[in-house]
Amino acid sequence: MRNAGPRFQSKQRIDYLIHSLKEFRDNQRSGADTLMAAAIFGASDAELVALAHYAASK
Ligand code: HEM
Repeated sequence: MRNAGPRFQSKQRIDYLIHSLKEFRDNQRSGADTLMAAAIFGASDAELVALAHYAASK
């Protein structure tokens, strides 16, 4: 599973990942109401930040 997710290393990329996760959660992406939005439905801002850093550490 090493290559299963996107690679995010720099702070800028982590910030962009957080931004994208919030867009999914809040259904502000075009093609809203997606599987991805369902995956993080109800997550708090802090949880999305933690998720982004976790993903970046992989
Ligand atoms: C059960 C967990 C997850 C499922 C089922 C899932 C599913 C999906 C799906 C189906 C898409 C395509 C867009 C859509 O149809 O919604 C997507 C996009 C995306 N997912 Fe997930 N996802 C999960 C977890 C995560 C996690 C943990 C992260 C990162 C922390 C993540 C980051 C992204 C990003 C950044 C995109 C957009 C990719 C792009 O626009 O090129 N996903 N996800």
